[in-house]
Amino acid sequence: MKLKFQNIFNMFAVALLLTGGMMSVAQAEHDDDDERIPVAKNALWQTECGSCHVAYPPRLLPAESWRAVMSGLDKHFGSDASLDTKAAKEIGTFLEKNAGSSRYQSSGKPDLRITETRWFLREHDKVADRVWKNPKVNSPANCAACHTQADSGNYSEHSIRIPK
Ligand code: HEC
Ligand code: HEC
Repeated sequence: MKLKFQNIFNMFAVALLLTGGMMSVAQAEHDDDDERIPVAKNALWQTECGSCHVAYPPRLLPAESWRAVMSGLDKHFGSDASLDTKAAKEIGTFLEKNAGSSRYQSSGKPDLRITETRWFLREHDKVADRVWKNPKVNSPANCAACHTQADSGNYSEHSIRIPK
């Protein structure tokens, strides 16, 4: 009798675990709609593409854009960000695998800048001109000036501090 009770208890626990798991899947899908950026990480990408600026989240550009960025690293926005073939291949694969949908695309040809996509402009349309012109911001590509957790890929509203 004691054993049987234990079994029923176990089944109940399993059912609870299952519903819990289903709820977290639903939650993750909701977050996806919510502009929150799922954290996708690759150690090589983090060090190589996070040395001059924050390692921009792969999801914020479509695969075609990452391909274009990765094929012009020797002339990268006025810098030389070249990588050896092996590193470039690993990072390129990681970026394309975690790339965003074409809604991060504005024009016919691939956008090289997140900051020029329609998505970015709309998301930031309440940021005043004088904020963009603040020397502490300097460039809209300087995400970390306002997104204090950008280093760890967290762009949530709660971690935004506009520099004064
Ligand atoms: C040697 C320094 C350097 C390295 C290394 C580097 N970048 Fe950049 N990157 C820059 C500079 C400079 C800019 C222009 C920033 C600005 O406009 O303020 C830039 C801009 C960008 C932008 C456009 C930002 C925007 O305006 O939306 C993307 C995308 C980008 N880099 C991706 C990468 C990726 C991917 C890697 C790794 C393969 C990488 N970068 C490595 C220097 C670097
Ligand atoms: C001058 C400050 C500033 C800079 C620089 C900046 N942002 Fe933002 N960002 C904001 C503000 C303000 C919002 C709007 C928050 C809101 O909706 O209330 C925002 C919103 C966002 C959101 C949506 C957050 C959410 O939870 O709704 C993302 C994602 C984001 N920014 C990414 C970036 C990226 C990537 C960069 C760099 C390429 C960047 N931002 C540069 C200030 C900035």
